[in-house]
Amino acid sequence: MLTIKSLNKTYPNGTQALNDVNLSLDKGMFGLLGPNGAGKSSLMRTIATLQLADSGTITFNDIDVFKQPEELRKIVGYLPQDFGVYPKVSAEMMLNHIAKVKGITNTQERKGYVADLLNKVNLYKFRSRNLGDYSGGMRQRFGIAQALIGNPKLIIVDEPTAGLDPLERNRFHNLLSELGENAVVILSTHIVDDVTNLCQNMAVFNEGKILAQGNPQELSETLNGKVFRKKINQSDLERIESDYIVLSNYLRGGEFYVSIYSDSTPSEGFEQITNGLEDFYFYCINKKQQEAIL
Ligand SMILES: Nc1ncnc2c1ncn2[C@@H]1O[C@H](COP(=O)(O)OP(=O)(O)OP(=O)(O)O)[C@@H](O)[C@H]1O
Ligand SMILES: [Mg+2]
Repeated sequence: MLTIKSLNKTYPNGTQALNDVNLSLDKGMFGLLGPNGAGKSSLMRTIATLQLADSGTITFNDIDVFKQPEELRKIVGYLPQDFGVYPKVSAEMMLNHIAKVKGITNTQERKGYVADLLNKVNLYKFRSRNLGDYSGGMRQRFGIAQALIGNPKLIIVDEPTAGLDPLERNRFHNLLSELGENAVVILSTHIVDDVTNLCQNMAVFNEGKILAQGNPQELSETLNGKVFRKKINQSDLERIESDYIVLSNYLRGGEFYVSIYSDSTPSEGFEQITNGLEDFYFYCINKKQQEAIL
């Protein structure tokens, strides 16, 4: 189990990336959902022992992450948001090298292990191709393969599905959910569907703060009967924004729609709609902004 308590981090330029973060995670897939700049990567790098916090604690089972970083490194697998590869090295050679460093010393055993990994991420066919010649999706799959070496008990993947085509994304989801059966997996994303499809537990994260935490379905249901939609003229948006908590606005078939949160039935021809996790996400993010305005 991963436990994060009162974690704070302010960068030297004054940006507070983590603001009293508290989280408790069990085995399975956990989704960290937040917009650009929310602090997701900062939190993940801190858990992966790549940067320090100003205050707070992180424990994983009986490991104190800040006091025993080398113990955590033995059992963590981390896929950074942006990672470089050695362009002139093949995936097979690279994985073989990392597996050796991680202590799989028997050559024959290592060969089988690397082949299994390559199959798992669907790269066996391309095992001899140089990493510099991989497509974005292939590189991402190589990234997850390297993060899995040593059967980590804690897997941290930072926006892993960005840039993957739908088929690859699906494959990647299946792989991640399989991993969640035996490990704590933390996935960061700004794609609501990733969380809906994959995660038993999640948090909405913005401006370094956890705004909500729980089961995606249960969190969505807290807005049941309170989400309404209306077709409007784009020029009316500002007025509606001043009267209601606007969740989103979008074009559909050339028509402009706005969806709002309201405790009671709103006037002016709004219709109640079936709400989902995306509405809850926007509610968390926008409610705070509205409160600041009011
Ligand atoms: N090394 C750094 N020095 C100074 N500020 C930083 C540093 N790294 C991140 N920040 C700032 O901290 C905030 C959180 O950044 P972070 O990269 O953690 O967000 P994120 O949620 O991962 O965003 P994205 O979805 O765009 O990847 C941002 O305002 C960012 O500009
Ligand atoms: Mg990030």
